[in-house]
Amino acid sequence: MSGAAGREEFVGRFGHVAEGSPWVAGAAWERGPFAGRAEMAAAFAAVIREAPPERQLALIRAHPELAGRAALAGELTRESAGEQASAGLDRLVPADLERVARLNSAYRERFGFPFVICVRGRSVAEILDAGEARLGDDPDAERAAAVEEIAAIIALRLTESP
Ligand code: GUN
Repeated sequence: MSGAAGREEFVGRFGHVAEGSPWVAGAAWERGPFAGRAEMAAAFAAVIREAPPERQLALIRAHPELAGRAALAGELTRESAGEQASAGLDRLVPADLERVARLNSAYRERFGFPFVICVRGRSVAEILDAGEARLGDDPDAERAAAVEEIAAIIALRLTESP
């Protein structure tokens, strides 16, 4: 596959793995062809690590809050809904729901973007502890940390994508 048609087909197939940000797949395609999904995931990660800060912020901001308004309204992407459910974030006890809501709003207030963490394989307690610890980060370090979490989310989504 090469040229504009190959790029379009690739973005059609993998554009969804970076939440609301098909440009990531477009830029990753330029780094291909790939021998397998691991190589592809490495290219997606390089694209987002090397993106200018404004693009990184737009990518982070394309993510819904964990157990947030969009989740409660049933408006998540299929991938995000599956990830949040796998960690138990779709069935929090009231005390945890309140703790997540407090974390989401304190985090957004401090950094100006939503708290993003690769939730798969983590418990609710681990997610909350990690988020509360990250509130103490320096903003540039925290943007970099969010980008790494998104790289992990993308790698898992690529593994599962047909
Ligand atoms: N971790 C895995 N998926 C998501 C998501 O959709 N939103 C946030 N904030 N973190 C995630």
